[in-house]
Amino acid sequence: MNKPLVHAVNVGKSFGKNEVLKGIDLDVHPGEVVVLLGPSGSGKTTFLRCINQLETIDAGRIWVDDDLMGYRDKEGQLYRLKDSEIAAQRREIGMVFQRFNLFPHMTALENVMEAPVQVKGVSKAEAKSQAVDLLERVGLGEKTGHYPSQLSGGQQQRVAIARALAMKPKLMLFDEPTSALDPELVGEVLSVMKELAREGMTMVVVTHEMGFARDVADRVVFMDAGVVVETGPPLEVINNPQHERTKSFLARMRSEHEAVAALVADEAV
Ligand SMILES: Nc1ncnc2c1ncn2[C@@H]1O[C@H](COP(=O)(O)OP(=O)(O)OP(=O)(O)O)[C@@H](O)[C@H]1O
Ligand SMILES: [Mg+2]
Repeated sequence: MNKPLVHAVNVGKSFGKNEVLKGIDLDVHPGEVVVLLGPSGSGKTTFLRCINQLETIDAGRIWVDDDLMGYRDKEGQLYRLKDSEIAAQRREIGMVFQRFNLFPHMTALENVMEAPVQVKGVSKAEAKSQAVDLLERVGLGEKTGHYPSQLSGGQQQRVAIARALAMKPKLMLFDEPTSALDPELVGEVLSVMKELAREGMTMVVVTHEMGFARDVADRVVFMDAGVVVETGPPLEVINNPQHERTKSFLARMRSEHEAVAALVADEAV
Protein backbone atom coordinates (compact mmCIF):
# COMPACT_ATOMS: atom_id res chain seq x y z
CA MET A 1 0.00 0.00 0.00
CA ASN A 2 1.21 3.51 -0.80
CA LYS A 3 2.11 5.99 1.92
CA PRO A 4 -0.75 7.75 3.68
CA LEU A 5 -1.36 11.39 2.82
CA VAL A 6 -2.77 12.01 6.28
CA HIS A 7 -1.08 10.14 9.10
CA ALA A 8 -2.54 10.98 12.50
CA VAL A 9 -1.15 9.20 15.52
CA ASN A 10 -2.59 9.27 19.02
CA VAL A 11 -3.96 12.80 18.64
CA GLY A 12 -5.13 14.34 21.91
CA LYS A 13 -6.90 17.61 22.49
CA SER A 14 -8.53 19.17 25.55
CA PHE A 15 -10.40 22.39 26.08
CA GLY A 16 -9.69 23.12 29.73
CA LYS A 17 -10.79 20.00 31.62
CA ASN A 18 -12.83 18.72 28.68
CA GLU A 19 -10.80 16.02 26.94
CA VAL A 20 -12.29 16.13 23.47
CA LEU A 21 -9.89 13.91 21.51
CA LYS A 22 -8.49 10.93 23.38
CA GLY A 23 -5.88 9.44 21.11
CA ILE A 24 -7.16 9.45 17.55
CA ASP A 25 -5.30 7.36 14.98
CA LEU A 26 -6.23 7.81 11.36
CA ASP A 27 -4.51 7.23 8.04
CA VAL A 28 -5.95 8.54 4.80
CA HIS A 29 -4.31 7.36 1.61
CA PRO A 30 -3.98 9.44 -1.56
CA GLY A 31 -7.26 9.45 -3.46
CA GLU A 32 -9.17 7.99 -0.55
CA VAL A 33 -12.49 9.38 0.68
CA VAL A 34 -13.06 8.92 4.40
CA VAL A 35 -16.40 9.79 5.96
CA LEU A 36 -16.35 10.67 9.68
CA LEU A 37 -19.53 9.85 11.52
CA GLY A 38 -20.42 10.38 15.13
CA PRO A 39 -22.82 12.00 17.54
CA SER A 40 -22.80 15.69 18.31
CA GLY A 41 -19.86 16.60 20.52
CA SER A 42 -17.85 13.50 19.66
CA GLY A 43 -14.96 15.63 18.38
CA LYS A 44 -15.34 15.44 14.59
CA THR A 45 -14.98 19.18 13.93
CA THR A 46 -12.18 19.47 16.44
CA PHE A 47 -10.29 16.68 14.72
CA LEU A 48 -10.65 18.32 11.28
CA ARG A 49 -9.51 21.62 12.78
CA CYS A 50 -6.47 19.87 14.29
CA ILE A 51 -5.54 18.40 10.91
CA ASN A 52 -5.24 21.84 9.38
CA GLN A 53 -3.96 23.48 12.56
CA LEU A 54 -6.90 25.72 13.30
CA GLU A 55 -6.43 24.07 16.69
CA THR A 56 -3.21 23.16 18.46
CA ILE A 57 -2.92 19.59 19.70
CA ASP A 58 -1.91 18.44 23.19
CA ALA A 59 -0.68 14.99 22.28
CA GLY A 60 0.25 12.89 19.29
CA ARG A 61 1.28 13.99 15.85
CA ILE A 62 -0.35 14.68 12.51
CA TRP A 63 1.51 14.48 9.24
CA VAL A 64 0.07 15.64 5.95
CA ASP A 65 2.14 14.55 2.99
CA ASP A 66 5.11 13.91 5.33
CA ASP A 67 4.86 17.40 6.82
CA LEU A 68 4.46 17.39 10.60
CA MET A 69 1.57 19.80 11.02
CA GLY A 70 2.15 22.80 13.26
CA TYR A 71 5.36 21.63 14.89
CA ARG A 72 9.02 20.84 14.49
CA ASP A 73 10.20 17.63 16.10
CA LYS A 74 13.60 18.06 17.71
CA GLU A 75 14.73 14.81 19.31
CA GLY A 76 11.20 13.92 20.35
CA GLN A 77 10.43 17.39 21.65
CA LEU A 78 7.82 19.40 19.75
CA TYR A 79 8.31 23.09 19.00
CA ARG A 80 5.49 25.16 17.55
CA LEU A 81 6.23 26.44 14.05
CA LYS A 82 6.06 30.14 13.24
CA ASP A 83 2.68 31.45 12.11
CA SER A 84 4.01 31.97 8.58
CA GLU A 85 5.18 28.34 8.43
CA ILE A 86 1.82 27.10 9.67
CA ALA A 87 0.04 29.30 7.14
CA ALA A 88 2.14 27.71 4.40
CA GLN A 89 1.14 24.23 5.58
CA ARG A 90 -2.51 25.21 5.73
CA ARG A 91 -2.46 26.48 2.17
CA GLU A 92 -2.14 22.89 0.99
CA ILE A 93 -5.42 21.92 2.62
CA GLY A 94 -8.86 23.02 1.48
CA MET A 95 -11.65 23.28 4.02
CA VAL A 96 -15.37 23.62 3.44
CA PHE A 97 -17.61 24.42 6.38
CA GLN A 98 -21.30 24.14 7.11
CA ARG A 99 -21.54 27.94 6.70
CA PHE A 100 -20.03 29.03 3.43
CA ASN A 101 -18.46 32.32 4.66
CA LEU A 102 -18.16 33.84 1.20
CA PHE A 103 -17.18 37.49 1.02
CA PRO A 104 -20.57 39.20 0.60
CA HIS A 105 -19.20 42.19 -1.31
CA MET A 106 -17.49 40.03 -3.93
CA THR A 107 -18.99 38.15 -6.87
CA ALA A 108 -18.67 34.38 -7.16
CA LEU A 109 -15.75 34.92 -9.53
CA GLU A 110 -14.01 37.37 -7.20
CA ASN A 111 -14.50 35.05 -4.24
CA VAL A 112 -12.76 32.23 -6.11
CA MET A 113 -9.95 34.51 -7.39
CA GLU A 114 -9.21 36.12 -4.03
CA ALA A 115 -6.85 33.66 -2.33
CA PRO A 116 -4.72 32.75 -5.36
CA VAL A 117 -4.15 36.47 -6.03
CA GLN A 118 -3.72 37.66 -2.43
CA VAL A 119 -1.96 34.67 -0.93
CA LYS A 120 -0.11 33.02 -3.79
CA GLY A 121 0.58 36.10 -5.90
CA VAL A 122 -1.00 34.56 -8.99
CA SER A 123 -1.69 37.16 -11.71
CA LYS A 124 -5.27 38.42 -11.94
CA ALA A 125 -5.65 37.16 -15.50
CA GLU A 126 -4.53 33.67 -14.58
CA ALA A 127 -6.63 33.59 -11.40
CA LYS A 128 -9.65 34.71 -13.38
CA SER A 129 -9.34 32.06 -16.06
CA GLN A 130 -8.83 29.42 -13.39
CA ALA A 131 -11.84 30.70 -11.42
CA VAL A 132 -14.04 30.56 -14.51
CA ASP A 133 -12.98 26.94 -15.09
CA LEU A 134 -13.62 26.03 -11.45
CA LEU A 135 -17.04 27.66 -11.38
CA GLU A 136 -17.93 25.77 -14.52
CA ARG A 137 -16.74 22.58 -12.90
CA VAL A 138 -19.16 23.08 -10.01
CA GLY A 139 -21.97 23.89 -12.44
CA LEU A 140 -21.97 27.67 -11.96
CA GLY A 141 -20.56 28.87 -15.27
CA GLU A 142 -23.60 31.12 -15.66
CA LYS A 143 -23.33 32.69 -12.22
CA THR A 144 -19.80 34.06 -12.13
CA GLY A 145 -21.01 37.66 -11.76
CA HIS A 146 -23.53 36.95 -9.02
CA TYR A 147 -23.03 38.08 -5.45
CA PRO A 148 -23.57 35.56 -2.62
CA SER A 149 -26.92 37.18 -1.73
CA GLN A 150 -28.10 36.43 -5.26
CA LEU A 151 -27.27 32.72 -4.96
CA SER A 152 -29.08 29.86 -3.24
CA GLY A 153 -27.43 28.09 -0.32
CA GLY A 154 -26.48 25.18 -2.55
CA GLN A 155 -24.95 27.51 -5.11
CA GLN A 156 -23.05 29.40 -2.41
CA GLN A 157 -21.67 26.15 -1.07
CA ARG A 158 -20.53 25.17 -4.56
CA VAL A 159 -18.73 28.54 -4.84
CA ALA A 160 -17.10 27.76 -1.48
CA ILE A 161 -15.89 24.43 -2.87
CA ALA A 162 -14.52 26.14 -6.00
CA ARG A 163 -12.82 28.71 -3.78
CA ALA A 164 -11.08 25.96 -1.80
CA LEU A 165 -10.04 24.17 -5.00
CA ALA A 166 -8.53 27.40 -6.38
CA MET A 167 -5.60 26.92 -4.00
CA LYS A 168 -4.91 23.50 -5.57
CA PRO A 169 -5.05 21.65 -2.25
CA LYS A 170 -3.67 18.15 -1.76
CA LEU A 171 -6.40 17.39 0.69
CA MET A 172 -9.98 18.58 1.15
CA LEU A 173 -11.72 18.62 4.52
CA PHE A 174 -15.50 18.97 4.60
CA ASP A 175 -17.37 19.70 7.82
CA GLU A 176 -21.07 18.97 7.34
CA PRO A 177 -21.14 20.83 4.03
CA THR A 178 -24.83 20.17 3.42
CA SER A 179 -26.37 20.36 6.87
CA ALA A 180 -27.31 24.05 6.62
CA LEU A 181 -29.05 23.53 3.27
CA ASP A 182 -32.70 23.03 2.44
CA PRO A 183 -33.21 19.35 1.62
CA GLU A 184 -33.77 20.00 -2.09
CA LEU A 185 -30.35 21.68 -2.39
CA VAL A 186 -28.33 18.93 -0.75
CA GLY A 187 -28.04 16.77 -3.86
CA GLU A 188 -26.32 19.37 -6.05
CA VAL A 189 -23.55 19.87 -3.48
CA LEU A 190 -23.10 16.15 -2.90
CA SER A 191 -22.82 15.53 -6.62
CA VAL A 192 -20.01 18.10 -6.91
CA MET A 193 -18.24 16.31 -4.05
CA LYS A 194 -18.84 12.97 -5.69
CA GLU A 195 -17.28 14.23 -8.92
CA LEU A 196 -14.30 15.55 -6.97
CA ALA A 197 -13.85 12.12 -5.39
CA ARG A 198 -14.08 10.48 -8.79
CA GLU A 199 -11.30 12.73 -10.04
CA GLY A 200 -9.08 11.39 -7.28
CA MET A 201 -9.15 14.12 -4.63
CA THR A 202 -8.25 12.92 -1.14
CA MET A 203 -11.13 13.87 1.13
CA VAL A 204 -12.15 13.68 4.78
CA VAL A 205 -15.85 14.39 5.06
CA VAL A 206 -17.95 14.85 8.19
CA THR A 207 -21.52 14.25 7.12
CA HIS A 208 -24.78 12.65 8.16
CA GLU A 209 -25.61 11.84 4.54
CA MET A 210 -25.60 8.05 4.63
CA GLY A 211 -26.26 7.77 0.89
CA PHE A 212 -23.08 9.73 0.22
CA ALA A 213 -21.14 7.61 2.70
CA ARG A 214 -22.43 4.43 1.11
CA ASP A 215 -21.82 5.48 -2.51
CA VAL A 216 -18.68 7.56 -2.32
CA ALA A 217 -16.66 6.75 0.81
CA ASP A 218 -13.89 4.21 0.66
CA ARG A 219 -13.99 4.02 4.42
CA VAL A 220 -16.26 5.13 7.23
CA VAL A 221 -14.87 6.07 10.62
CA PHE A 222 -17.27 6.19 13.55
CA MET A 223 -16.17 8.42 16.43
CA ASP A 224 -17.73 8.73 19.82
CA ALA A 225 -16.56 10.71 22.86
CA GLY A 226 -13.17 11.46 21.36
CA VAL A 227 -12.18 7.97 20.25
CA VAL A 228 -12.48 6.02 17.02
CA VAL A 229 -14.95 3.28 17.88
CA GLU A 230 -15.14 1.50 14.57
CA THR A 231 -13.82 1.83 11.04
CA GLY A 232 -14.33 -0.10 7.83
CA PRO A 233 -15.87 -0.14 4.36
CA PRO A 234 -19.14 1.83 4.34
CA LEU A 235 -21.43 -1.11 3.71
CA GLU A 236 -19.90 -3.08 6.56
CA VAL A 237 -20.07 -0.26 9.08
CA ILE A 238 -23.50 1.01 8.04
CA ASN A 239 -25.25 -2.32 7.47
CA ASN A 240 -23.45 -4.43 9.98
CA PRO A 241 -21.99 -2.30 12.78
CA GLN A 242 -20.03 -4.28 15.35
CA HIS A 243 -20.24 -1.96 18.32
CA GLU A 244 -23.25 -1.06 20.41
CA ARG A 245 -22.50 2.67 20.18
CA THR A 246 -22.33 2.53 16.38
CA LYS A 247 -25.58 0.57 16.26
CA SER A 248 -27.50 3.00 18.41
CA PHE A 249 -26.11 6.03 16.55
CA LEU A 250 -27.12 4.57 13.17
CA ALA A 251 -30.56 3.63 14.45
CA ARG A 252 -31.05 7.19 15.70
CA MET A 253 -29.87 8.61 12.35
CA ARG A 254 -32.28 6.35 10.52
CA SER A 255 -35.30 7.41 12.56
CA GLU A 256 -34.38 11.11 12.19
CA HIS A 257 -34.00 10.59 8.47
CA GLU A 258 -37.41 8.93 8.26
CA ALA A 259 -39.00 11.73 10.27
CA VAL A 260 -37.56 14.34 7.88
CA ALA A 261 -38.62 12.32 4.83
CA ALA A 262 -42.16 12.12 6.22
CA LEU A 263 -42.21 15.88 6.81
CA VAL A 264 -41.02 16.63 3.28
CA ALA A 265 -43.63 14.22 1.90
CA ASP A 266 -46.32 15.98 3.98
CA GLU A 267 -45.28 19.38 2.64
CA ALA A 268 -45.37 18.08 -0.91
CA VAL A 269 -49.00 17.02 -0.54
N1 LIG B 1 -13.14 26.32 21.01
C1 LIG B 1 -13.66 25.51 21.93
N2 LIG B 1 -13.59 25.81 23.24
C2 LIG B 1 -14.10 24.99 24.19
N3 LIG B 1 -14.71 23.81 23.92
C3 LIG B 1 -14.81 23.45 22.64
C4 LIG B 1 -14.31 24.28 21.57
N4 LIG B 1 -14.57 23.65 20.39
C5 LIG B 1 -15.21 22.51 20.70
N5 LIG B 1 -15.35 22.37 22.04
C6 LIG B 1 -15.97 21.23 22.74
O1 LIG B 1 -15.41 20.06 22.21
C7 LIG B 1 -16.37 19.02 22.11
C8 LIG B 1 -16.37 18.45 20.72
O2 LIG B 1 -16.84 19.42 19.84
P1 LIG B 1 -16.84 19.22 18.27
O3 LIG B 1 -17.35 20.49 17.71
O4 LIG B 1 -15.52 18.75 17.82
O5 LIG B 1 -17.90 18.05 18.09
P2 LIG B 1 -18.61 17.49 16.78
O6 LIG B 1 -18.42 16.03 16.80
O7 LIG B 1 -18.10 18.24 15.60
O8 LIG B 1 -20.15 17.82 17.05
P3 LIG B 1 -21.33 18.28 16.04
O9 LIG B 1 -21.81 17.02 15.38
O10 LIG B 1 -22.35 18.88 16.92
O11 LIG B 1 -20.74 19.26 15.06
C9 LIG B 1 -17.67 19.62 22.56
O12 LIG B 1 -17.88 19.26 23.90
C10 LIG B 1 -17.44 21.11 22.44
O13 LIG B 1 -18.21 21.81 23.37
MG1 LIG C 1 -19.01 19.50 14.19
